[in-house]
Amino acid sequence: MSDDPFLRDLWYMAVQGASLKRGAMRREMLLGEPVLIGRMKDGEAFALRDICPHRGVPLSAGKVMPENAVECPYHGWRFKPDGQCSLIPSLVGGEAIKAESIRVRSYPVREQDGLIWVYMAAQGREAAPPRSEPPRVPVPNARPRWSESQTFRCAIDHAVIGLMDPAHAPYVHGRWWWRVKPRVKEKRYAPLPTGFVMTRHAPSKAAYKLLGADVSTEITFELPSIRFENITGSFLGRPIAVTGLTTCTPVDEQTTQVTQIFYWPAWLGFIKPFFWAMGPTFLGDDRRMVELQREGLKFDPRLMLIQDADVPAMWYHRLKKAWAESAATGAPFANPLKETTLRWKS
Ligand code: FES
Ligand SMILES: [Fe+2]
Repeated sequence: MSDDPFLRDLWYMAVQGASLKRGAMRREMLLGEPVLIGRMKDGEAFALRDICPHRGVPLSAGKVMPENAVECPYHGWRFKPDGQCSLIPSLVGGEAIKAESIRVRSYPVREQDGLIWVYMAAQGREAAPPRSEPPRVPVPNARPRWSESQTFRCAIDHAVIGLMDPAHAPYVHGRWWWRVKPRVKEKRYAPLPTGFVMTRHAPSKAAYKLLGADVSTEITFELPSIRFENITGSFLGRPIAVTGLTTCTPVDEQTTQVTQIFYWPAWLGFIKPFFWAMGPTFLGDDRRMVELQREGLKFDPRLMLIQDADVPAMWYHRLKKAWAESAATGAPFANPLKETTLRWKS
């Protein structure tokens, strides 16, 4: 599958659980495939290929039936969340065709921490069990407290690299009220099972001081496109944990959905206006920059990655390559990265 533009056999964040009521369905494009994401009447989230195997009508245009099956709007064929057909209404009995022998592809789904993750297997491995589980948010009883999702008109790699790029902040996110004079940064990095972590350190931005004097943060990245910032501190003597999760989910080769979700304990709700004010602005800054980048990429220029500021981007490419190789050969994935310190000015 060397010509597949997407990394497979991994979990992608598809939608937030709260956006999907019982009996609701929607059509999402994930990695260029139409996927019906829905919730049965019993509350179970499910994902099916959004193409009826009979004549191709999107199943998401149909209905969720009380018996926890999806009914196609064209001829009423019904499908269970595991993709098996449970009813073909036109059959009178005695025909050779059996509903149970017909399937539509179903995708493994996990709903946790308020998010619905979908496992996108490689072609030929659709029936194999997932190689891993989706990441957990390291906050007890994690519930999304604030979120923002924007569609970036760029390939996933540019969205991901934009997120891990440490040198753009003063230029892309600079504001008179959010300006830090560039200075030398030195950060320790260590490998993770499928990525790397900028190890725990005291953040430089004054805004973090909201979370106490002893505030510290770590930033993780794991394949395919999952970034966590885990901030800890203490407020009035109480330990607190705030986690920001950013995910990039490819819609197609030139479109990426970027979602940021913050989690914090309920009693810390007063920090919400800060995110409400800043969140869309910062994500919008990144979106505008990758869209501007398109104007150059149209001409397929040679690009550069330089030491040390672009080293995380180089790691991303190495991780992807190692993952694709292990998926193709069936060999266990071995993270090629080593613990190291990076220095740059920003
Ligand atoms: S197209 Fe779906 S039932 Fe005929
Ligand atoms: Fe950014």
